[in-house]
Amino acid sequence: MRLAAFAVLIVPASLLAASGKDTCIECHAVMDGAIQKPALLIHDDIHYANGLSCANCHGGDPTSDDPSVAMSKAKGFIGKPKRTAIPQLCANCHGNPDFMRRYRPQQRVDQLELYKTSVHGKRLAAGDDTVATCIDCHSVHDIRAVKNPLAPVYPVRLPATCGRCHADAKKMAKYGIPTNQLEQYYTSVHWEDLKNGDLGAPNCASCHGNHGAKPPEVASVAAVCGSCHVLFAQLYDKSVHEPIFSGASGGGGCITCHSNHGIQQPSTAMLVGPKAVCSTCHESGSQGAKTAAQMAQWIDGLGAALKRSDAVLSEADKSGMEVSEAQIRLDDGRENLVKARLALHSFQPEEMHKPIEAGTKIAAETLKAGEAALHEKNIRRIGLAVSVFFIAITVLAIRLVIRRLEADGSGYLEPSKSS
Ligand code: HEC
Ligand code: HEC
Ligand code: HEC
Ligand code: HEC
Ligand code: HEC
Ligand code: HEC
Ligand code: HEC
Ligand code: HEC
Ligand code: HEC
Repeated sequence: MRLAAFAVLIVPASLLAASGKDTCIECHAVMDGAIQKPALLIHDDIHYANGLSCANCHGGDPTSDDPSVAMSKAKGFIGKPKRTAIPQLCANCHGNPDFMRRYRPQQRVDQLELYKTSVHGKRLAAGDDTVATCIDCHSVHDIRAVKNPLAPVYPVRLPATCGRCHADAKKMAKYGIPTNQLEQYYTSVHWEDLKNGDLGAPNCASCHGNHGAKPPEVASVAAVCGSCHVLFAQLYDKSVHEPIFSGASGGGGCITCHSNHGIQQPSTAMLVGPKAVCSTCHESGSQGAKTAAQMAQWIDGLGAALKRSDAVLSEADKSGMEVSEAQIRLDDGRENLVKARLALHSFQPEEMHKPIEAGTKIAAETLKAGEAALHEKNIRRIGLAVSVFFIAITVLAIRLVIRRLEADGSGYLEPSKSS
């Protein structure tokens, strides 16, 4: 059945190749409005670039100037496909490995199979055509290679593509799910990073999949974050919180503390103070609250110590003292702060204390080195001032002597006067 439909569609392609004529484009290009647009857009389309054209999707005979022949059912013309028919239409080629291999041997051919497992695909199969079909993510008539920066699925553009529906409260009203994902995502560290060109930062599809789009199951949320933040997930998985949070409904794991769409730059405000996430569960005075306070103090303390060392070393460096060794050492200190933030996720103070202790020691060492350099600079400056003073006295003395000689009128020094 699927292959039969495919065979019908492939005939015009060979006709096209034989004659080089494309009456579909020729005629539609001189029409107006909605039926003209495809003939204009198609020049940006990857299918057109690969020698495929209108008739490969719509059927019909692209060699006939007579519209009743070109667009006749007898020639396999299907007209404008219904939305519910689109995934199968695309999969006539994209699900056919023999066909796709002729164009791109490595190309995946599982888009439709995956799509059927997604919330989008399941709802479409049940007749709901509000959901995303292939063309809502890839567009139509100007379908671009997915790696093309102008493609609507290109990482930086994808959030807005999903947002065309998911941020549209009216369109989503009948489903009763939130419509704030895009708005929140645009405030996140992930978007900040992606926007600035790091294609490794997650877009909607990195967490939800593209063809198999579905919300990550509650139990796999830690795995979603952990697919990139591997070390954090390893510690968290062994922590006291893991079994508790993953049992919670409506979200768990990392997102209990970091949220999912609007992830902010973490700071000790997550640990202590009015916005602390820990105090939503740990009352003040409890073991958990004490640990949170201790962790905040460690992070802030080490952070401040590293800053102080950095300031003193910079000052010494600017005044020309050689402190590069200490500055390199200070980087090790900063690395310990990073390690401490990671170790926090074991929620065992002993684990976190190790890098804090090591970092604090380095901060103290480098501070001492910086202060010593500044001290030495001061001694050198005093030395310099003293020599400048003596040189000035000497110059003055010589001037006095010269004036006196000039007043004498002799014009030259006599040996007895010069000593
Ligand atoms: C000589 C002009 C002419 C040629 C050739 C032609 N078309 Fe059309 N096409 C039209 C006009 C006019 C309409 C709008 C009126 C109508 O629906 O019949 C149209 C409508 C369509 C529609 C929309 C139908 C719908 O259901 O809304 C599609 C799709 C289409 N053409 C595809 C093609 C393809 C593919 C070919 C080539 C195999 C082709 N056309 C050849 C003039 C042409
Ligand atoms: C890759 C497959 C593909 C190719 C190639 C393609 N179309 Fe389409 N076309 C579609 C799909 C899918 C739709 C339905 C769009 C929708 O539901 O919004 C469509 C819709 C249309 C419509 C109806 C537009 C409307 O707004 O009602 C016309 C007319 C049309 N195509 C003509 C063409 C012409 C002319 C060409 C060649 C220049 C062409 N198509 C090439 C897949 C294709
Ligand atoms: C919910 C949005 C969405 C839907 C629906 C969707 N795609 Fe995609 N598609 C994407 C994204 C995102 C990518 C990956 C882009 C990347 O790798 O950077 C992609 C990639 C592709 C690729 C490149 C190969 C691959 O699999 O990575 C093809 C071909 C493709 N899609 C075809 C289809 C077809 C056919 C359908 C319908 C059955 C479809 N897509 C439905 C979003 C979607
Ligand atoms: C007649 C066969 C055919 C049909 C029908 C077809 N495609 Fe394609 N498609 C191809 C070929 C061939 C390529 C170019 C080879 C490649 O890049 O994978 C391609 C490329 C693509 C790409 C770029 C893939 C990449 O890796 O960058 C996307 C996206 C795509 N098609 C989506 C669609 C969608 C959406 C539909 C349905 C509206 C569709 N195609 C219908 C044959 C087809
Ligand atoms: C054409 C509109 C449209 C586009 C574009 C679209 N979606 Fe959807 N999506 C829907 C609709 C409608 C639902 C069904 C809502 C429901 O059943 O709760 C849905 C459901 C979902 C769900 C399941 C929500 C739930 O908990 O039920 C996820 C996850 C999702 N979409 C992610 C995405 C992502 C990621 C993208 C972009 C790659 C995207 N969608 C693009 C319309 C769209
Ligand atoms: C960093 C990973 C991540 C990114 C990026 C992401 N999501 Fe989500 N999304 C999640 C998680 C986790 C859930 C919650 C699952 C749960 O609670 O069971 C979720 C839930 C959803 C839902 C279900 C309704 C809801 O809000 O709970 C939709 C729809 C959705 N996301 C769409 C999007 C869209 C659209 C984007 C891009 C603008 C996006 N997501 C980006 C991880 C992500
Ligand atoms: C596709 C990979 C990927 C996924 C999935 C992912 N992240 Fe990220 N995340 C990144 C990248 C890249 C950055 C920015 C670089 C960095 O600072 O580490 C980042 C940054 C962060 C930051 C800020 C770190 C900092 O030092 O600035 C937090 C917190 C974070 N992610 C938490 C999460 C959570 C929670 C999830 C799951 C809901 C998640 N991430 C899913 C890749 C990912
Ligand atoms: C119980 C709350 C909690 C959970 C659960 C949690 N985190 Fe964190 N996370 C924090 C706190 C608190 C910080 C650091 C605060 C600071 O920098 O002062 C943080 C910091 C981070 C950072 C930034 C590290 C840096 O160097 O700036 C990343 C990335 C991160 N977490 C990822 C994750 C991931 C991935 C998970 C799940 C595997 C997770 N977190 C689970 C509370 C949590
Ligand atoms: C969603 C609720 C929740 C949040 C948020 C939360 N915890 Fe917990 N935490 C628990 C539960 C429940 C236990 C187990 C208590 C027990 O077994 O007595 C626990 C245990 C702990 C323990 C082991 C000591 C103890 O009390 O048993 C530490 C340490 C801890 N949490 C620290 C933190 C820190 C630090 C944060 C914030 C970054 C945090 N927790 C956020 C619920 C939470």
